[in-house]
Amino acid sequence: MPTGTPGLDKMIEGGLPRPSLTLLAGEAGAGKTTFCTQFLCKGAELGQRGLYLRAFGGPPDLLINYASCYEFVKSTYFGQEICYMELEEMMERACQWQDFLDLLKSKIESIHPARMVMEDISLLEEILKDEYWRFLLKLSHLIKDNAIVALLAEDALPGAAYLTHIAQVADGIILLQNEEMNFTRRRSLEVIKMSGTSHNIGKHAVDISAKGLTVYPGL
Ligand SMILES: Nc1ncnc2c1ncn2[C@@H]1O[C@H](COP(=O)(O)OP(=O)(O)O)[C@@H](O)[C@H]1O
Ligand SMILES: [Mg+2]
Repeated sequence: MPTGTPGLDKMIEGGLPRPSLTLLAGEAGAGKTTFCTQFLCKGAELGQRGLYLRAFGGPPDLLINYASCYEFVKSTYFGQEICYMELEEMMERACQWQDFLDLLKSKIESIHPARMVMEDISLLEEILKDEYWRFLLKLSHLIKDNAIVALLAEDALPGAAYLTHIAQVADGIILLQNEEMNFTRRRSLEVIKMSGTSHNIGKHAVDISAKGLTVYPGL
């Protein structure tokens, strides 16, 4: 499945495997939301439905406003090819893992997305506690059963590259960085893992502009 990020697909033999679950990790400002928006918009351009789920996120209008800064975003995608939902209300009610999964299941069955993005889903760990791993396991099954290509975008914790619970169920791990180097910062992308794929390794230069995220393999 083409990612929509120029330069990346040729590093991973053409795109993300279908179905699969990929952890997209990186510190704040590294480009996770941009990457996810590009991924969903690429799908929309190809006529594929996308489900965009955030643990919390404020009004969808604001999200569309931010996204509209990018050239590849058409505001008509939102509400048509791209369906947005957030879990804030459910999180406040401290629901159980089955409730979150049932909600997702019914959404997936009604819109049949080919692509799915979930941002900050690890916040559920505090609510679900010991049941969090079960939720992740069932989520992974739900994604596979419905032939979905999913991205789970998560903030990487300082000193740790990515979250281990999600990494354990992930078929792929992509790391975005914005590292300080000689009083400036360098953006990079690294494919840590991509099951069944002969992928490039190491850090590759990244640029973010109005065209979104671009990767320069080999640079
Ligand atoms: N039009 C643009 N031109 C250049 N850089 C941009 C543009 N839009 C966003 N950015 C950069 O992208 C960053 C935001 O990336 P984002 O995808 O929100 O990161 P994350 O979700 O990982 O926190 C901004 O802090 C800014 O540096
Ligand atoms: Mg973000």
